[in-house]
Amino acid sequence: MLGTRYSQLKHSANIGLVPLLEIRNLTKTFPLGESIFGGDARGEVRAVDDVSLDIQAGETLGLVGESGSGKSTLGRLVLRLIEPTAGSIRFNGRDLLSARTGEMRGLRRDMQIIFQDPFGSLDPRMRVEEIVSEPLIIHERMNLSARRMRVAELLRAVGLDESARQRFPHEFSGGQRQRIGIARALALRPKFIVADEPVSALDVSVGAQIVNLMARLQLEFGLTYLFISHSMPVVRYLATRIAVMYRGKIVEVGPTEQMTAAPAHAYTRSLLEATPEMTT
Ligand SMILES: Nc1ncnc2c1ncn2[C@@H]1O[C@H](COP(=O)(O)OP(=O)(O)O)[C@@H](O)[C@H]1O
Ligand SMILES: [Mg+2]
Repeated sequence: MLGTRYSQLKHSANIGLVPLLEIRNLTKTFPLGESIFGGDARGEVRAVDDVSLDIQAGETLGLVGESGSGKSTLGRLVLRLIEPTAGSIRFNGRDLLSARTGEMRGLRRDMQIIFQDPFGSLDPRMRVEEIVSEPLIIHERMNLSARRMRVAELLRAVGLDESARQRFPHEFSGGQRQRIGIARALALRPKFIVADEPVSALDVSVGAQIVNLMARLQLEFGLTYLFISHSMPVVRYLATRIAVMYRGKIVEVGPTEQMTAAPAHAYTRSLLEATPEMTT
């Protein structure tokens, strides 16, 4: 199963020579809280510290590292949900940070995010139909029947029953809610998805189903993933390459087989030792 998918991906025509995403010297600092002695700022935390990375079209770059290492900050920078302190990001050859509102609006359709907590990120008062079709209303002037068709297509793609559309998020299990979040993320047919710990809140077996779903959707929709996790077994299952983050820096990056068979960095070895195999 795993071998099959790797070979499919390796031979995929989607993997090009020009990176979909080019991250150069990206840095993000946050001010530290005020000191309890007198109110002087105690300096700043370098959440992301001079990171350079390429992500090729069609690949899954797994981003792994302990809690607080800067993974979510990097993911949010890449989607321009927050502005960097320094550095540059090119998406599909275009400079993301100098993009004006109009261009950015177009770029945002191509870049989506899947969150760790699908419950917190889904509006509890909205039915699944509205949740999944909201991006279509905001970004595309699609009529109602076209929207309904797209929603039906998306629900099918993520393995949810047609009857789900009239129900509310609280009526679903965690795994099903994550499927709703994925359907919403796919609504605008994006090229690139940041998945920030998408299975960390789920049971291992449910998480494995979501990972399998993401692998299938990648081939079906030609997606590129930045897949963030603190868990090496989850990352190694899906990623074509793995980047290891430690205290805001990428300390090692390479093909999954190489990173797991012969990790160069002691921190990568400790991540491999700390975590048992994911059983799927
Ligand atoms: N909005 C923020 N304000 C202040 N500090 C932040 C903010 N977001 C993240 N940080 C800090 O940046 C560092 C990296 O956080 P984060 O990117 O969330 O790490 P990870 O996702 O790897 O757990 C942490 O020290 C965190 O406290
Ligand atoms: Mg995080």
